[in-house]
Amino acid sequence: MKKILITRKLLSSCEDKAKKTFDASLNLNDELYSQKRLIELSKKHDGILSALTDKLDAKTINQLPDTVKIISNFAVGFGNIDLEAAKQKGIVVTNTPEVLTDATAEIGVLLILGACRRAAEGIERARKGGWIWSADLLIGKQLTGARLGILGMGRIGQKIAKVAKSLGMVIHYHNRSRLIQEKEQGANYHDNLKDLMKVSDVLSICCPASKETINMINKDTIEYLPKGAVVTNVARGDIVEDEAMIDALNRRKVYAVGLDVYKNEPNLNPGYLNHPSAFILPHVGSATKETRTAMANLAIDNLDEFFRTGNCINKVN
Ligand code: GLV
Repeated sequence: MKKILITRKLLSSCEDKAKKTFDASLNLNDELYSQKRLIELSKKHDGILSALTDKLDAKTINQLPDTVKIISNFAVGFGNIDLEAAKQKGIVVTNTPEVLTDATAEIGVLLILGACRRAAEGIERARKGGWIWSADLLIGKQLTGARLGILGMGRIGQKIAKVAKSLGMVIHYHNRSRLIQEKEQGANYHDNLKDLMKVSDVLSICCPASKETINMINKDTIEYLPKGAVVTNVARGDIVEDEAMIDALNRRKVYAVGLDVYKNEPNLNPGYLNHPSAFILPHVGSATKETRTAMANLAIDNLDEFFRTGNCINKVN
């Protein structure tokens, strides 16, 4: 049986599946392993089932034992892994796409609603008590007729577009290439970020973090947004320059933000923490039982397929 290191706790049905399929080393207390510990623990293992909290940079990958042939990441994103370093070392990297599209899009829509309708302030007022209904209590932004700019119209972006359209939003998007008509579903394509930003009453960031997208939403690009735009991010914190965003919030260039992901998670920029116009969640895009189960099972299947056939279902490097 192949020996697999599972770096974080999985839902118990998935750990059972892993134990049936492999000689699995589990992390029962769900400790966060340091890079050093992860290297030590992976000795004599054939593969690693990693999570987005494992920073598998080039230095760490280069110190992994030669027995490790595959890293199966329990996430659709793989910004936590240096793909090139893994490739150089002959390690295959896989991810878990598709199975989390719907759950993540649900959170993407929640961020749009929460930011536009001032949910953070509303929750605080309701908890505190003593509020009185009035015609102008917590007036927010209505979505009907508003323009939604989707940055990164992949599977998650397309699902958010579908729901947002049903709420009466007008969809715009920017991708490196235009989608086929069937996937576009009437959305307006912009071949550059600036043009998308200009028409985004609400911006939904859905693209992967990569060399091209890191800090793409920054001091300069924020200025292209209409005054009072809303910015949401369900993808990765690295895409947004936080200081610039907080400054834009403070001077009301940006009306509100809805965020599920951050640079340096879980130590997010303190400027967001108590900001009344920041609707913030702790990276829960894929957090439903169905989805987390499907993701872990796919991460296990990716390992199993690789060891049985040498093929990879979701290879990313
Ligand atoms: C979640 O953020 C993922 O990449 O799966």
